[in-house]
Amino acid sequence: MSTITPVPRVAVIVVAAGSGTRLAAGGPKAFVGIDDATILRHALRGVFAAPRAQVIVVAPAGREGDARTEAREAAGDRRDLVSVVTGGATRQDSVAAGLAALWGDIEVVLVHDAARSLTPPDVFARVSDAVAAGAAGVVPVLPVVDTLKRVSGPSVLGAVDRSELAAAQTPQGFRRDVLQTAYAVASHEFTDDAALVADAGHPIRTVAGDEQAFKITTPADLERARALVADDPVAPVTAALDAPPPVPRVGVGTDVHAFGGDGSLWLAGLEWPGESALSGHSDGDAVAHAIVDALLAAAGLGDIGTHFGTDQPEYAGAHASAFLARTHALLGEAGFRIGNVSVQVQANRPRFAARRAEAERVLSAALGGAAVSVSATTTDGLGFTGRTEGVAAFAVALVVPV
Ligand code: CTP
Ligand code: MG
Repeated sequence: MSTITPVPRVAVIVVAAGSGTRLAAGGPKAFVGIDDATILRHALRGVFAAPRAQVIVVAPAGREGDARTEAREAAGDRRDLVSVVTGGATRQDSVAAGLAALWGDIEVVLVHDAARSLTPPDVFARVSDAVAAGAAGVVPVLPVVDTLKRVSGPSVLGAVDRSELAAAQTPQGFRRDVLQTAYAVASHEFTDDAALVADAGHPIRTVAGDEQAFKITTPADLERARALVADDPVAPVTAALDAPPPVPRVGVGTDVHAFGGDGSLWLAGLEWPGESALSGHSDGDAVAHAIVDALLAAAGLGDIGTHFGTDQPEYAGAHASAFLARTHALLGEAGFRIGNVSVQVQANRPRFAARRAEAERVLSAALGGAAVSVSATTTDGLGFTGRTEGVAAFAVALVVPV
């Protein structure tokens, strides 16, 4: 089954090109560590935990490579959605540089300060949903809690009605055409993108911001971020996004046994009355043994001899279910679950057609319910299987780390 991932309609421009003069940490603010991760990395974790979007990181000149590394590692399997561009002398120039890198299909643009490093993912969702619902521009805000005074030097001139005021945060979201046109006509510096877009004549809506979306500006802000990260139970979860996605693994196994054993034939976990038996340390079930080898190889756990050698008398005469159940348990202990197994038998006898489904059920049950496909073929009279001297089996297994 394949899934086709659509091209995103939303882009997030993460501006990280500032010098961090007020933080005075001896280098560009984006690369200052909060814990073992930088301000930029934390910001990107929030961005990648939010709904899927094109992500453009605007980096300080000369630090594009570092920004690219941070972005790739934070992106996980969204790596293809990331690009890095060089910022400008002002924040507005940096946003303009980001706008130039938008993909053609983008309809909604969020502009976000890397310095608002701990912004929760739901703020991104709130802002882009409000734009998708028809707003030209959206800004997340917090109510102002302090009592405000209008002052001149040391003198208080009067009170300010704080019910009319709100503190603006990022990400701020805009219809792409609105933002690009407003940037194209902007003739001076604005305090933020919402002000620039409002100046171009568009209404701006608000959505709820978040205390955690505060901007790291001064050393005290950095201390606050450090304290929050230190006792944030969610941090390890978002940190896990940095780990590369688990990759499934395949393994191959083959086995051959000669006819000439005692008793009745056991093959693919079934007893075949009236057929000649295969010889071997156990019941000679080449199908089961090929599957065991394929599974162990896929999990990197050696082969059948490693776990079921002739020095282990408990497996003498044992049937498929014992081998397969033990293999299933070994994989579980090593942190793998079975994706599926496909096995092919080459033999003149027995004739599998009538019992193929039964064999699949029995093998699957012994492997904890994993999907097993069994197919069988003859070899046109050629080779040892063609001469009915024995049976060969070939198995492929897929396992998935859990
Ligand atoms: N920014 C940018 N390009 C600039 C200036 C700022 O991309 N030329 C970004 C910053 O990296 C930051 C955001 O805009 O993520 C908000 O800016 P601010 O907090 O002022 O960061 P700095 O400009 O780096 O800090 P300072 O003003 O103290 O130098
Ligand atoms: Mg600045």
